[in-house]
Parts: sequence; structure tokens; C-alpha cells
Amino acid sequence: MTAVLSRAPPTDAPAQHFEVRPFDAPVGAEIVGLDIAEPINAADFQRIHRAHLEHHVLVFRDQRITPAQHIDFSRRFGPLEIHVLHQFQLKDHPEILIVSNIKENGEPIGLGDAGVYWHSDISYKPKPSLGSLLHAQELPSEGGDTLFADQHLAWEALSPELQQCILPLKAEHSYLAKYEELRAKNPWRPKLSQAQIDQVAPAVQPVVRTHPQTGRKALFVSEHFTTRIVGLPPGESDALLAELFAHSVKPEFVYRHAWAPHDLVFWDNRSLMHLAAGTPDHLRRRLNRTTVVGDTPF
Ligand code: SIN
Repeated sequence: MTAVLSRAPPTDAPAQHFEVRPFDAPVGAEIVGLDIAEPINAADFQRIHRAHLEHHVLVFRDQRITPAQHIDFSRRFGPLEIHVLHQFQLKDHPEILIVSNIKENGEPIGLGDAGVYWHSDISYKPKPSLGSLLHAQELPSEGGDTLFADQHLAWEALSPELQQCILPLKAEHSYLAKYEELRAKNPWRPKLSQAQIDQVAPAVQPVVRTHPQTGRKALFVSEHFTTRIVGLPPGESDALLAELFAHSVKPEFVYRHAWAPHDLVFWDNRSLMHLAAGTPDHLRRRLNRTTVVGDTPF
């Protein structure tokens, strides 16, 4: 189950000389010396893809790429999601969601509270995301880190009894789960139209999913989007979810990313959850995100 995606366009471009340097952390590696603005040949692409499967989050340093290059590189991993909040798409590039706390003329230019709760991107759709690529545009002088929690390690650290109990369970995920709560705190969040609500009907997902390429199991519930365990009474469902949420983000599963200028961070939503640690209100932060569509979880 380690087949490498074959969506990379054939190219006889010369090899690039880059290093994959694992972090001293439960997950993650940095890629140093690769230039995404230059052609990437099939062998280099496969190396990147394998590193992504192994380390789950890759930090490509110093990528001075345009939005079109960001999109082209992302598309090599699969089709791209168009986020339901079309208000925050980059002009002329709907594949890019702007993640930012910046307001221009009193209006937010991006989704300012993206990632304030632990989550895996797009878990509320029948085909959640394979992975997301976030490119730093403007960084605050303090704060603004992003945390990644390894859900394979979280699964493996559960007791065999709890593993057996949750393995057959399914849970509902909903984009709307915390939407109104967030809108009450952040009134700039747009009121969703009926068409937007229709795009994000709740989805039922396995509580434990199997990574389609590595075969490893991972916990797949999140405080942001998971609303209930299907078939359990509400009290039992809430108690089990609270236990799993607390377990899944223990420090021993987490890598904390402190952003450097021009970082492009590519994480695997099938293996990880992530969280935006927060930025002081008076400091500006802006990143561009593409989101690669994945498969139906099993
Ligand atoms: C996200 O959840 O995609 C945003 C994460 C971040 O802003 O750090």
C-alpha cells in the first residue's frame, strides 16, 4: 500500500538537489534545496511524495512562488477543493483560500479564525481532503504557529480494549458544528447562504480510518467538526468523543511549526489534525491555502 501517485506530468527536467531533514519531533521534515518554481521531474516528485507519506508534514523552505505555481504544484497530488467560503478565495484563483486576520477598509481579506479548533480539513464532506498546502505571505513577529498532531500515533497509543471498542464505530462530521459559535465571536464571518449550507451536508465517517496508501490506521474525529458517534446515546457519545479529543492531541503526538518567510507547508489530512495557535490581534498574518481532494475514508 505504498504506491506513489502517478498524477505527476512526465518531465525530463534535470534532477534538483534537495535534502529531506526529519524534525526532532513526532512528525514532520523539512525539504531544503528544492525550488518549486522550477520543473520537478518524476523521480524527484516521487521522492517528495514518499517523504510526505513517511513524515506526514513537509516544510518546503524558501519557496518564492506565485499563486499559479502554488496551484500547479498542489495539483500534482490531485484535484483541488474549492472552499465553501467563496468570500475568501483569492481573486482569479478560486483554488486558493486566503487565511488571514488582516482587514482592509474594515473588511476581512481572509478567514481569520481558520483552524482555531483541532481538525482535519474537509472531514465534513464524503471525500475529505488528502492534504493541504499553506504558503506564508505575511507573518507576525510573534505567535501564528501551527500545530500538527499525528493520528496514527494517537491510535497506536490507545489501549487494546478501547481500540476494539471504537474500531467499528462511525461518527457524523458537520461544517456547521461550530459555525454559529465562531460567528458570534467573530461577526465578520459571513452568514452562509442556503446554497452554501447545501454544499456542506453532514457526512458520516469511520472513527478509525485506514490510510489508503500506507495501510496505517488513524483516529479520525475532531473537536471542530465531529458532532456525534452514530448509534450511541448522546451522553455516551459526548463522553467518548471528549476522551478521544483529549487523547488525540497529547504533546507526544504533536509538532509545532513556527513559520519562516516563504515556507510552504504540506500536511496529510489522512494522518494528522492541525490547529492554529493564534496571532495577537494587532499583528498581521496572511497565508494562502490549497486543499487537495482525497478519497472516501474506510
Ligand atoms: C488551517 O486550518 O488551514 C489554518 C491553519 C493556520 O492558519 O495555521
